[in-house]
Amino acid sequence: VAAFEREFAHLHGAAHGVAVTSCTTALHLALLALGIGPGDEVVLPSFTWIATANAVEYVGARPVLCDVDPRTYNLDPDLLAARITPRTRAVIPVHLFGLCAPMEEILSLCRPRGIAVVEDAACASGASARGRMAGTFGEVGCFSFHPRKVITTGEGGMCLTGDEGLAGRLRMLRNHGAAVAEEDRHRGPRPFQLPEFPVLGYNYRMTDLQGAVGLAQLRKLPALLAERRRRAAWYRERLAALPWLATPAAPDGFGHTWQSFVCRVDESRAPLSRDGIMEALEARGIASRPGTHAVHLQAYYVRKYGFRPEDFPASLSCQRETIALPLHSRMDDADFQRVAAALDALP
Ligand SMILES: Cc1ncc(COP(=O)(O)O)c(C=O)c1O
Repeated sequence: VAAFEREFAHLHGAAHGVAVTSCTTALHLALLALGIGPGDEVVLPSFTWIATANAVEYVGARPVLCDVDPRTYNLDPDLLAARITPRTRAVIPVHLFGLCAPMEEILSLCRPRGIAVVEDAACASGASARGRMAGTFGEVGCFSFHPRKVITTGEGGMCLTGDEGLAGRLRMLRNHGAAVAEEDRHRGPRPFQLPEFPVLGYNYRMTDLQGAVGLAQLRKLPALLAERRRRAAWYRERLAALPWLATPAAPDGFGHTWQSFVCRVDESRAPLSRDGIMEALEARGIASRPGTHAVHLQAYYVRKYGFRPEDFPASLSCQRETIALPLHSRMDDADFQRVAAALDALP
């Protein structure tokens, strides 16, 4: 685990890596380590995997949703300022599907106000924006190694931070709140002495078995990213002629991971509805999925905060219109041709 932490942090240009059990637990610990809790507000995009919002609920803070830019699927910085109040303690930009959120704009809003930035970089191992790596813009960057990600440890996650104090708190919190890490205790002069537990902690430790897998995966990351970038460029060109399908944005200066290749279906021009298209592809043995969901439509959040579908119109349309097409390093030319031909041939 220690070696995986070092190499992952080094690859991203971060001083400290703290490996945990998932990105969800990474986000939970990041908010705890920053001292965020009841009475605080945390702003996050309304179009994201539900874990981003759930982490805010775990610490008893209030998740304040902000709509996204439907071209990038990321936080719309023009809407962010209006979501900030005197109670805002943190913003969680999400680098959704592997494209970095507009960090310059987000940081320029947060920094002068003393608002912490926790990056949800679940999809963004190896992503970059204008020469800087994902997970190193804010106070903490949180990554996922779930099997759907570009590199995986089965399940797993990592916090990156440049702040030594935060790294120490994250390490303590992931290990039951112990004042001394297990390795240090066993190596030290009194290995028989149990540590003090000054804070309420958790067992969010990554196992060494996962760390070993992570190290092996990390060595493949450059090749995996290059392959995904090549395939995404091919898709974007090959599918450009379909007037009803908007392929994902790939802004200049952004190193996308293409964890997912998420398009938008314009149902007013498409031969079938988005769901009809997914069904037709499935019938031909081609798996597709919605991009992700809108948090403000999920029952727990509707019940607790009374959100209405129209509160975040871009997120609502992204939930309804997005489709992730198959993209994987083990797919060959014929597989990609087959997906494109199936889209051409829709009734
Ligand atoms: C944007 C985003 N945030 C958080 C998570 C949660 O990651 P994990 O499954 O490692 O807890 C995911 C997982 O898919 C995600 O896509």
